[in-house]
Amino acid sequence: MARGMDHFLYRDGVLHAEDVPLPEIAAAVGTPFYVYSTATLLRHFTLFDEALSGTEHLVCYAMKAASNQAILKTLAAAGAGMDVVSGGEYMRAKAAGVPGDKIVFSGVGKTADEIRLALSGGIRQFNVESEPEMEVLNRVAGEVGVRAPITIRVNPDVDAKTHAKIATGKSENKFGIPIARAREVYALAASLPNLDVIGIDVHIGSQLTDLAPFELAYQKVAELTETLRGDGHTIKRLDLGGGLGIPYARNNEAPPLPSDYGALIKRTVGHLGCEIEIEPGRLIAGNAGCMITQVIYVKSGEGRDFLILDGAMNDLIRPAMYEAYHDIVPVLEADAGVEQTPYDIVGPVCESGDTFAKQRMMAPLNAGDLVAFRSAGAYGAVMSSEYNTRPLIPEVLVHGDQYAVIRARPTFDEMINRDTIPEWL
Ligand code: LLP
Repeated sequence: MARGMDHFLYRDGVLHAEDVPLPEIAAAVGTPFYVYSTATLLRHFTLFDEALSGTEHLVCYAMKAASNQAILKTLAAAGAGMDVVSGGEYMRAKAAGVPGDKIVFSGVGKTADEIRLALSGGIRQFNVESEPEMEVLNRVAGEVGVRAPITIRVNPDVDAKTHAKIATGKSENKFGIPIARAREVYALAASLPNLDVIGIDVHIGSQLTDLAPFELAYQKVAELTETLRGDGHTIKRLDLGGGLGIPYARNNEAPPLPSDYGALIKRTVGHLGCEIEIEPGRLIAGNAGCMITQVIYVKSGEGRDFLILDGAMNDLIRPAMYEAYHDIVPVLEADAGVEQTPYDIVGPVCESGDTFAKQRMMAPLNAGDLVAFRSAGAYGAVMSSEYNTRPLIPEVLVHGDQYAVIRARPTFDEMINRDTIPEWL
């Protein structure tokens, strides 16, 4: 499989999403907006699915990355399961037609109400993260009158070597139970009448660009599988989490491919005869989406030029929150040989943190020009807010030469009318 098959390409100097020129969408829906490629979503899902071929498996898309109904339906139609982390995500998955037996429920703080919702609507398994959660799950399952299938998320104390805010597999993180306590916690689970222990879960972090931490974690899971089986537990399913990273700056980062990752899984846990689940989010959606914004002003500052865009930190928070790098490219391709110039690229929000990039080299741009933020499909729209009373920006899905608005921009009235006035005012 060749790296870099890309459905956002210039044709005759105009950036397209699949067969649709982006200026056409901009003219129809206004800027800023998110645009996704169906072909990229499906291709990335299929890469994972094929990487695990020959092994019983389910790829459960971590829908926190991008959870629009149209995206979920696209992936579900290809056979994807879903990894959900809230009652809302569970309802979204169900609304998109995903059957309960393809939905796994992760997260450290599932409430009794969320647990009840999933038990009543059908669930593949809960990935349990603590003993108190286990007790609540056991109680609610009893009330609903079902047995809850569970794995227990173990924390393997592995350094994922990623950004501190998205590393989850070290013992200092809030996630999972320490692997050293696993036998004790599995024994407790086995003693609870309404729980059905079926496997082990692990997730060590996000945007991992090296396979070594996965290898360490999965080896520990393999050893634990043998130990727990020795203790008499049924371990028939391994949920190996998500986290495989993507290239954000094209040409100078080459994270491992899903096929390498699949081979690693087979090498480390393949001999155990377990059904394998994985929970990729970013790799499926990240490079399937761009945020398209327009230059409002080019402002000359003291020794630097600012590109002021109509997109801001509330629309794409990753640079402000994680110092994340996103490629930013002009929608109309610059002429070959044009000299690049450094810009500080910022949004209109009243915070210095509303800075997407500093001293980024770009071909000269003017007010009215469109630029595309690449790799914005994952953790873009889902993390956006209406800070500064800026409307949530629309989402658009492209499929070949067709496109559709899959979430419309709210009007100012719609935004304002979500507030209600108490009777004393
Ligand atoms: N499974 C679990 C239990 C998770 O916590 C996560 C992500 C995933 C799967 C999916 O990981 P992925 O394949 O997408 O790396 N907002 C941050 C990323 C937060 C990731 C949280 N957990 C960002 O924009 O970089």
